[in-house]
Amino acid sequence: MKLFNVAVIGATGIVGQEFISLLEQRDFPVDNLYPFASEKSMGLFVQYKKKEIDIIPLSLESVNERKIDIAFFSAGSIIAKEMAQVFSKKGALVIDNSSAFRKDKDVPLVVPEVNGGVLKNSKSRIIANPNCSTIQLVPFLKIMEESYGLKSVFVSTYQSVSGAGRGGIEELKDQVSKLFSGKSVKPEIFPQRIAFNLIPQIGHFYPDGYCEEEVKMINETKKILSRDDLDIDVTTVRVPTFFSHAETVFVETKKVCDLNAVREKIEKHPEMVLMDDPQELLYPTLIDSSGKNEVFVGRLRKSSKSDKRISAWIVADNVRKGAAYNAIKIAETIIQGV
Ligand SMILES: NC(=O)c1ccc[n+]([C@@H]2O[C@H](COP(=O)([O-])OP(=O)(O)OC[C@H]3O[C@@H](n4cnc5c(N)ncnc54)[C@H](OP(=O)(O)O)[C@@H]3O)[C@@H](O)[C@H]2O)c1
Repeated sequence: MKLFNVAVIGATGIVGQEFISLLEQRDFPVDNLYPFASEKSMGLFVQYKKKEIDIIPLSLESVNERKIDIAFFSAGSIIAKEMAQVFSKKGALVIDNSSAFRKDKDVPLVVPEVNGGVLKNSKSRIIANPNCSTIQLVPFLKIMEESYGLKSVFVSTYQSVSGAGRGGIEELKDQVSKLFSGKSVKPEIFPQRIAFNLIPQIGHFYPDGYCEEEVKMINETKKILSRDDLDIDVTTVRVPTFFSHAETVFVETKKVCDLNAVREKIEKHPEMVLMDDPQELLYPTLIDSSGKNEVFVGRLRKSSKSDKRISAWIVADNVRKGAAYNAIKIAETIIQGV
């Protein structure tokens, strides 16, 4: 089997760490693993297959010194814009987790089980991984689009603090412990206090009142489903939980829906899990999805007013399904010749 020199850029971060454990768990064909991070992580190491591998500070020299076949970027969009071309010009396939290239029409934006086919016709050496909340939404929408045609989609998200990286997790922990000791807290990563609170803002606001995460979800969903005309509206909310994101999704379809047929499609889907028996209190929660690769769906129901309206509750691990797992699946799809 062909082996690859694999780089993880942002290897000390929450997504980077997930990359390293998934590469090991999936027995990804790694020859050499190169974990890159910033200067401040010099002296640290990552654990991979019982070996300790030193963190490599990211620089032009440290990249040029190595032959890299596949580079998983999880260090934010500034680093991606600065360094992705450096890796790709040296021949590496870059799969980037940030928003840097998602809107670029020549860069495929991919959830393999939804639109993996676009990889076949692309010559781009940079592939964009969608936003975590988009990744967990589109497999369900694809089923609805293929079966009944989507007319409109309305989504509200409930997004854990790990979506904001290691700093987000630390901020929630710190605020909870301070508040329990009667101390005051000052928000730093999040725009408001996150402990015992909900924040209807992820990223900055645009003049039209939408925030960054909402606009990302709207644009990315249209691109992945090749439905520029899709009527989709989103409200994104940060919630004080640590891992996994949840979404309430309401779709209007062009044709009449058969709820049992939708359930059956989800049950048979290799990347989805149906947990839908409310009478038995069966529906997915964040805990069910944490540490898992699949998208979990429950609370499926038809509107009493129309056979063309369905609601669903969708949960997935944002760091895994919403980031590292999807990126590794993209690489595996390309390695296997699409
Ligand atoms: N968290 C999620 O749920 C999620 C989901 C989907 C996509 N993403 C995307 O994945 C990326 C990483 O997110 P994260 O949550 O893992 O963030 P994180 O925990 O804050 O980690 C950020 C990583 O980037 C590295 N980094 C920062 N500045 C750097 C520099 N100048 N040179 C080299 N490395 C640098 C950090 O290294 P140091 O430790 O050395 O600073 C760290 O390894 C972001 O683009 C994010 O939007 C995140």
